[in-house]
Amino acid sequence: MQNGAGNGARHLGDAILGIETSCDETAAAVVAGGQQVLSSVVSSQVDLHARYGGVVPEVAGRAHVERLVPVMSQALVESALEDSDIAAVAATAGPGLVGALLVGVSAAKALALAWDVPFVAVNHLEAHLHAAFLDEPSLELPVVVILVSGGHTMLVMMEDRLRYRVLGATLDDAAGEAFDKVARYMGLGYPGGPVIDRLSGQGDRDAIAFPRAMLHDGWNFSFSGLKTSVINHLRRHPDAPIEDVAASFQEAVADVLLAKARRAAAAHNARGLCLAGGVAANSRLREMTLDACTADGLAAYLPSRAMCTDNAAMVAAAGWWRLQADGPSPLTVGADPSLGLPED
Ligand code: KG4
Ligand code: ZN
Repeated sequence: MQNGAGNGARHLGDAILGIETSCDETAAAVVAGGQQVLSSVVSSQVDLHARYGGVVPEVAGRAHVERLVPVMSQALVESALEDSDIAAVAATAGPGLVGALLVGVSAAKALALAWDVPFVAVNHLEAHLHAAFLDEPSLELPVVVILVSGGHTMLVMMEDRLRYRVLGATLDDAAGEAFDKVARYMGLGYPGGPVIDRLSGQGDRDAIAFPRAMLHDGWNFSFSGLKTSVINHLRRHPDAPIEDVAASFQEAVADVLLAKARRAAAAHNARGLCLAGGVAANSRLREMTLDACTADGLAAYLPSRAMCTDNAAMVAAAGWWRLQADGPSPLTVGADPSLGLPED
């Protein structure tokens, strides 16, 4: 099947409606040919969860129920397609919050039945791996992907669109989780990543030598010791400038991620490094990735912030590739909160 990237043509027969409700973003998008984003609508629930200091699953599920239909309608209107132009409906089936996932999966199945088109169950992590291609259609594989979000931290060797290997993952906190927990301790609210990122811009990243766990040791990560170290530092030095603490913490996270990704790229002959997931919006991580790629002769793929954080365009794109490879998913497929990344 042809890929519609770059030539401006609309492959309407290949238009997929994607739905994303795995956590606290209600999102819908229409993507043609697995590449051409005709619309992408994201309704963030961050305001609802901020007062609790984190995502409350029950609140997330209820908000998805309220928001999904208007969000899907908007995505369809903005795509300028008719319902009858939609060739398949793809939804994130996991991993994520089960009550949240079920809203999107049920809506997708209902629409697929009503429109008599295939339903495609999409792995949320696989969708993140496809996000960079929507910004960079000419992305050259193989690449090492640093997949960093609130729930996951993985180093993935991506050989082909649907062929990849997880080289390593976090043994405890995800990178985004560490940002959120440190920010919560500092009283900076939720989500913590963007605030720490902003504060770090005014701080000295060499002010405090926070630990770099497992820096030279395999492909896995550990961030819970770093988080504890930051909290202990703040207890011992209550007057420490928070900008310096934030910048030094952020530097430690980015340092470990980049050190391992560079080593992985060399060991596996990757052509580039690619960022994915919400933490990929981090300005220091982006800057260090660019610097590392320049130094190592690698291509740097840094998706836009909109593509880094949860969205449904990446779900529709991954759904398109899965549909070509595996065909439709059975309607008996349910939500799987602990779904792993499929490895070929
Ligand atoms: O991928 P995502 O939107 O949702 C999932 O977890 O799947 O990622 C959200 C995470 C949160 O932990 C948030 O604090 C973090 O991404 N994040 C950032 C930044 N923007 C969002 N972390 C560091 N720096 C940022 N600029
Ligand atoms: Zn995500």
